[in-house]
Amino acid sequence: MITPVRLPILFLLLFLPLHTLATSLSFLPSPSDDSFIIAIDDVPWLYASGASFQGADLKFEEMRQGDGGFDAFGSYIDYVYTWTNTPVYTVIKTYREDPSTIVFEQHIREDVSSPGFPDSFTQSAWPIFGKNDLNHFTYKEFWPVMESGSLKSFQPSHQGGVPLTIYNSSDSTLPNVVFSPLTDFKSVHMAADSETFSLGIISNATFIPQNFEASFILSSSSGINRGMMEWGEKLLSYHDKPRTDMFLDTTHSTIGFWTDNGGYYHYSTGEDTSKTYEEVLPEVKAYHDSLNIPFGHWQFDSWFYPKDGPVDHGGGGGGVTNWTADPSIFPSGMANINELLDDMPTIMHNRQWSASSDYVKSWEFEWFIDDETQIAIPKDPAAFFTRFFQEQKGWGLTMYEQDWIMKQYDLTDSLFTNLTLANLWHRGMGEGASAAGLSIQYCMPYPNDILSSVMNKAVTNIRATDDYFHGDDRYESNWPIGQTAMLIHALGALPFKDGFYSSTNVQTGGQEVGPELHPDRHAIMATLSTAMVGPMDGINLLNASRVMSKCNSEGKILKPDRPVTTPDYCYINGKKGEDCVSYSTSSGSNIYFFDNNGSANFTLDMIDVNDDTREYAVYNWYTGSTYTIKGGESIVLEAGYEGHSYAVISPFDDITDIAFIGETDKIVTNSRARFDHKEGKVRGGENERVRQCWIVKGNSLRTVCKEITLTEDGVGLMAPM
Ligand SMILES: *[C@@H]1O[C@H](CO)[C@@H](O)[C@H](O)[C@H]1NC(C)=O
Ligand SMILES: *[C@@H]1O[C@H](CO)[C@@H](O)[C@H](O)[C@H]1NC(C)=O
Ligand SMILES: *[C@@H]1O[C@H](CO)[C@@H](O)[C@H](O)[C@H]1NC(C)=O
Ligand SMILES: *[C@@H]1O[C@H](CO)[C@@H](O)[C@H](O)[C@H]1NC(C)=O
Ligand SMILES: *[C@@H]1O[C@H](CO)[C@@H](O)[C@H](O)[C@H]1NC(C)=O
Ligand SMILES: *[C@@H]1O[C@H](CO)[C@@H](O)[C@H](O)[C@H]1NC(C)=O
Ligand SMILES: *[C@@H]1O[C@H](CO)[C@@H](O)[C@H](O)[C@H]1NC(C)=O
Repeated sequence: MITPVRLPILFLLLFLPLHTLATSLSFLPSPSDDSFIIAIDDVPWLYASGASFQGADLKFEEMRQGDGGFDAFGSYIDYVYTWTNTPVYTVIKTYREDPSTIVFEQHIREDVSSPGFPDSFTQSAWPIFGKNDLNHFTYKEFWPVMESGSLKSFQPSHQGGVPLTIYNSSDSTLPNVVFSPLTDFKSVHMAADSETFSLGIISNATFIPQNFEASFILSSSSGINRGMMEWGEKLLSYHDKPRTDMFLDTTHSTIGFWTDNGGYYHYSTGEDTSKTYEEVLPEVKAYHDSLNIPFGHWQFDSWFYPKDGPVDHGGGGGGVTNWTADPSIFPSGMANINELLDDMPTIMHNRQWSASSDYVKSWEFEWFIDDETQIAIPKDPAAFFTRFFQEQKGWGLTMYEQDWIMKQYDLTDSLFTNLTLANLWHRGMGEGASAAGLSIQYCMPYPNDILSSVMNKAVTNIRATDDYFHGDDRYESNWPIGQTAMLIHALGALPFKDGFYSSTNVQTGGQEVGPELHPDRHAIMATLSTAMVGPMDGINLLNASRVMSKCNSEGKILKPDRPVTTPDYCYINGKKGEDCVSYSTSSGSNIYFFDNNGSANFTLDMIDVNDDTREYAVYNWYTGSTYTIKGGESIVLEAGYEGHSYAVISPFDDITDIAFIGETDKIVTNSRARFDHKEGKVRGGENERVRQCWIVKGNSLRTVCKEITLTEDGVGLMAPM
């Protein structure tokens, strides 16, 4: 159904550039047929020809320039392609003020029924691009992981294969285009065969309403991280969603105690199995208080509410029947446990809706029910969720964790046979949560769901990894968030690493006993994620000093300025982004570098610093060793006791030859939450002692540290060196 693109060698010469711009993308249509070229900076990158709808190749009628107009990207020129004997017409838009954006649209003129095309991903295709030798990466599966290779090898996966980033790894400036849906993310899917790739309407939709429109965006840039960010900004601005404030509320800004899968209290109350959660959790809270660990929120996983069936080890299983306390867990109810935990702000987990739930039985809303799976979805998600989120007053609920997104979708046939329902589900959940003042975490999302988060303004964070202790290698995985963090960060949400054990203790009595052999690695990644940081140890098993290395004395997380990602270095010269074990992020002028491969042979290009003139100080966070480094030089960063290396890199001041490192006992040594360099202020808890360190270049390299004590109000002046 997809037409392979075969191009004569002189093809290019036939094209008249109708709309060439000095930089970025140009659209070069053929004067005689429906084919066209997309060029970056006048270099042809992508060739397109043909279109198809419901199993038939479409016959080209004509292409004409439309009336133009104005949308979220500004004033556009539109080119309308018409095709014979079909309800479909297609449109390309180029933007006068934004040469890095092109929008493609498929329009359906009239109501169309469909038999469904379950053997393919889509039932429409345009543009159909030819594959070539450029590089690509994309995201697949739930808790998406990156997959990369030659563009020729690109294949989508169920609800995955978006966005598709196409880049030239031989060019050190990493020119790239990001191709993805722009709207209605659950109504469309990526498709590919051995020679082409395209986007189109989902194959299983049985009805396409009149005036349905699917739009796709192609966004160009140079640099992988920058290209992803610019693409994400475009989606956010189109859908009018702001980026998440990483200190939005206590839940986002402070360390929390988690009970997710893989943690001690996930379907386990500890060694004395006769105790209920209602008895145990206050004891755990008292233990935290005795250590002075100021957890600012808790997370309750799926163990707290009743379900219509058994639950397996990972927590999956029966659908939710009533999202409230299971009487065998919290006999005195949700408000009571919240009171016992001193009104703790709480993140609460939910899953797919059971057809036998109280909401289906006793509320007035109508539901679509999958006959086979007995999983249900409300017909009017916005109305349902708006009422639903009014039911939890007094629980301490601050964030709703929608888990099992993939299961709700895959096991509710109406979500994939009804073209618009899944989008309404995402939007409606957000409307209801926003009306109740709640934020949302997406868990187990497909790439198509992650893109859908831009239609759901309440989504502030998205799980970026598999469950704790459940990866391919139980004790080695779940920490590397950088590849997926790049996607989630681009879309304005915070990439959440999941909870973890903070100590190497054997967690006897817990769901998982561990021991965790690399707690620092989890602690570092969680802190660098900019999302929540959630230890999950059992009573008497936390490592308090490690927990406190992430935050100030009041539990406020000392975050970097942006989530940790794989640097562009991981994509140059054919390196595969998904294999990269080097990650970096920054706060102010400090850059944080993590490398999981033993002692790292470190060069500045590994953190995308390509300035050959400047000299940098390097502080090995584990050993305290210091170095100077310039472009082209390399140093060996000795690994710490867990076998990975972690360092802070800071430029020397040109005049003083001093580099600010900050508080070396914290993971992020120069967080904006701590040091306000502009005002010369230090912020933290009451009477907190804060260390500040500098590296000084003299005859020999010295580390100088000073400690100040903050006032009762938790402020102080930065110490002079
Ligand atoms: C279409 O439906 C079939 C059968 O229900 C399912 O296996 C397939 O994954 C669906 N395709 C897509 C693209 O959702
Ligand atoms: C990719 O970059 C290399 C090196 O600059 C260049 O030779 C090659 O032509 C580029 N390929 C494309 C398709 O632009
Ligand atoms: C869920 O259970 C609670 C507690 O038993 C009850 O008050 C509430 O009405 C139930 N919800 C629905 C929708 O029936
Ligand atoms: C799809 O679901 C929406 C929302 O419930 C509904 O309004 C619409 O009628 C459904 N479409 C079909 C074809 O059933
Ligand atoms: C606790 O963590 C610190 C690092 O913050 C580590 O040095 C120490 O060995 C750990 N303590 C235990 C008992 O594991
Ligand atoms: C890890 O380091 C070794 C030698 O230092 C190197 O051969 C190997 O390619 C590195 N692995 C990765 C994934 O970077
Ligand atoms: C470190 O990398 C540099 C430059 O890439 C190389 O010249 C040097 O041999 C490497 N050193 C070690 C110890 O691997």
